Amino acid sequence: AFEVRLASSGRVIPVPADRTVTQALANAGVEIMVSCEQGVCGTCLTRVLQGEPEHRDSYLTPEEQAANDQFTPCCSRSKSACLVLDL
Ligand code: FES
Repeated sequence: AFEVRLASSGRVIPVPADRTVTQALANAGVEIMVSCEQGVCGTCLTRVLQGEPEHRDSYLTPEEQAANDQFTPCCSRSKSACLVLDL
């Protein structure tokens, strides 16, 4: 498990092992548009301001993934204890 922090409000939302980031956000009332929910389409792409995502998508190039400044919250997770999102 890890948590995400919303940069705009400072809200911290825990992401349990059995939920995706988009599910955890939706439960907290923060809706992110999703489509494929498999890391293919890029609809959910979200900017990451701090922390290191664990990329599980096939949408970003390896170079884009390595930059760690965006991720796909429908399927990707976090290597850091906390990811700060531009939300
Ligand atoms: Fe398609 Fe996240 S919804 S990549």
